[in-house]
Amino acid sequence: MADIYDKVIELARRRGFVWPTSECYGSVAGFIDYGPLGAMLKRKIENVWRDFYIAREGYFEIECPTIGEESIYIASGHVKGFADKMIQCPHCNEFHRADHICDAHGIANSETKSLEELTEILKNLPCPACSETFDGSAVYYFNLMFQTTIGPGSQRTGYLRPETAQGIFTDFGRLLRFYRDKLPFGAVQIGKSYRNEISPRQGMIRLREFTQAEAEIFVHPEKKDHPNFERYAERIVPLRGIKQQECGGEPLEITMREAVSSGIVANEYVAYYVALTHDFLITCGADPKKVRFRQHLPDERAHYATDCWDAEILSGRFGWVETVGIADRTDYDLKAHSKQSGDSFTVFIPYDEPKKGWEKRIVPDMGALGPKYRGKAKAVADALSASKPTDKGAEIEIDGEKILIPPELYEVREHETEIRGEDVMPHVIEPSYGIDRILYSILEHSYDEEDVEGEIRRVLHFPPRVAPVQAAVLPLMGRDDLDTIALKIMDEIQNEGLIAQYDDSGAIGRRYRRQDEIGTPFAITVDYDTKEDKTVTLRDRDSMKQIRCDADKVPGILRDLIRGRISFEDLE
Ligand code: ATP
Ligand code: GLY
Repeated sequence: MADIYDKVIELARRRGFVWPTSECYGSVAGFIDYGPLGAMLKRKIENVWRDFYIAREGYFEIECPTIGEESIYIASGHVKGFADKMIQCPHCNEFHRADHICDAHGIANSETKSLEELTEILKNLPCPACSETFDGSAVYYFNLMFQTTIGPGSQRTGYLRPETAQGIFTDFGRLLRFYRDKLPFGAVQIGKSYRNEISPRQGMIRLREFTQAEAEIFVHPEKKDHPNFERYAERIVPLRGIKQQECGGEPLEITMREAVSSGIVANEYVAYYVALTHDFLITCGADPKKVRFRQHLPDERAHYATDCWDAEILSGRFGWVETVGIADRTDYDLKAHSKQSGDSFTVFIPYDEPKKGWEKRIVPDMGALGPKYRGKAKAVADALSASKPTDKGAEIEIDGEKILIPPELYEVREHETEIRGEDVMPHVIEPSYGIDRILYSILEHSYDEEDVEGEIRRVLHFPPRVAPVQAAVLPLMGRDDLDTIALKIMDEIQNEGLIAQYDDSGAIGRRYRRQDEIGTPFAITVDYDTKEDKTVTLRDRDSMKQIRCDADKVPGILRDLIRGRISFEDLE
C-alpha cells in the first residue's frame, strides 16, 4: 500500500482520531489535536504502558511541572547543548535541519560533522523547498527548548521541559526516601514534552508538543543484573547491533540471554527493557515483522551513555522510525544535578559486615597552644583536631591563612574505627517512549483494506485492549422493543467498565463497516429472535464470524475477550 500514510490520515481525520490543531486559524505545524477516538486510543496505550511499568515493575508514577526553572536545564546540559544544526536557504528563506538534508543525499554520519564541514557540504546541495543551492548560507546551532519567563516582570528564566526525565532526577532525594533508601528503585512519568523542532513536516512523527512516557531506574553502578531477568531471558528480539550496521547485515534474531552473554547488549538491565519494549509494542498492536532494535553507534551515542538502543518501527511513508530510546545513562544526570545544586544525590549502601580499621587522630595540647596563639587558640585547636598529622606537623587553615603546626603542640592517638558502608551515586537506566509515534505506528500497522463481496472494507485491527470503542450494540430495528433490549445490554456492558457505542441508524452491514473502520473488535446485534430466546449475535471484527450467545452473558464474555482470557475461536 504505497500511500498508506494518506489513507490512515484521511481516516484518522474523518473518524475523529487526530486532526490539525486550531484549524479555524490555519493550524501551526508541529501541533495536533487528538479527537474523541484518538484521545481514547492514546489513553489506552498509556494504560497498557502503566500496566507494564507500574503494575508489573513496581515503579510508581509521579507528575512534575512542564515548566522548569533555568538551573535544571543548565545542569542537564540542555541550555548549552540541546541544539540542532540548522541552515536557512538564502533564496526562499526556509529553515532546514542540516543532517536531514545530508541524509536525503545519502551523506553518512552527518550528525558528527562540524558546522564548517556541513556548511561546505551544503554549499552544493539543493534546498528541498526551492531547489536552489545553500551557497552563501552558514550552518549554525538552534536550541530546541521553548524559553519563557516565570512571574510578571520577572527576570527568572524558565523552559518548557524537553523531556519528562529531569523531574524524576531532581526529585531523587525524596524518591529515595519513599523507596526506603534502597536500590534499585524506579519512577515513571507520562506527560507532555516540548521541542521547537526546526521543520516538523512528518505529521505525528515530529511534533513540537508531544507525549513521552519515561522510566528512570536507579541501580547500583556495579550491580546491573535485573532481578527479574528470567522473565525475558529467552525472548528473541531482532537486534541491529553495531556490527550488523557496519556490515549492512540483517538484524540478529537471538535471545536476550545470548545478547548479554555475547556482550552485544551491555547489561541485563538494558536487555530486559529492550525485551519489555518489544513485548509492549506488540501488545499494543505493532506488527512484529516491522519492529527492530538498533544500537547507537559509538559516535552518535551520548558521551556518558555506556549503551543505547532505539526501538524502530517501520512506516510505509517514513521508513524505520525511532519510537523508544533505551539507554544506560550512568551517573551523568545525578552528578550534574549534584554539582549544580550542591545536594548529595547518593545512596548509603551498608556493607554486609562493617569494616574495622585504625585511624590516627590529633589531640591538641591546649597548655602549649594557649600561650602561643592566645585569642585564636580555640580555632587552632578545632582545626587541628580535624586535620591529619604528617611527619613535619599538621597543616591547618585559619581565616584563609595556612599554618603548619609542629608535632610538639599536639599528641597523636590511634583509634579503632568501624566503617558501616559507603555513599554511592546510582546509575540510571532509562527507557524513553514517544507515545505519539507509537500511536501513529499502531494506526498504520492496524490499517487494512479488504474486498468483501465487491466492496472495500476498511478495518483497523486494533488489539481489543487498546481499541477506543470495545463493543458496538446494534438493534436490528430502532423499534418493536429491540431498542429497549439493546439499551439494557448497552447499560450492562458500560457497568462492566467497557466503552460501548450504540448505533441504530442504517442497514446493519453499513453499521458493521462503520465500526470496523474505527477498530471496534466486537458487535452485539439484537434481532427478533432475541425477543423469543434472549440470545444475541456476537460478531468478531477480524474474522467477521458470528455466534449466538445468551444476552445476559454478553458483558462477562466481552470482558474475558478484551482481557485476552478467551478468544473468539473458543466461543465458536
Ligand atoms: P529524533 O532523533 O527523531 O529527533 P530523539 O533521538 O531526539 O528523536 P529522544 O530524545 O531519544 O528522541 O526522545 C525519546 C523519544 O521521544 C523518541 O524515541 C521519540 O519517540 C519521542 N520524540 C522525540 N522527539 C519527538 C518529536 N519531536 N515528536 C514526537 N516524538 C518525539
Ligand atoms: N529522556 C530522553 C530524551 O528525551 O532524550
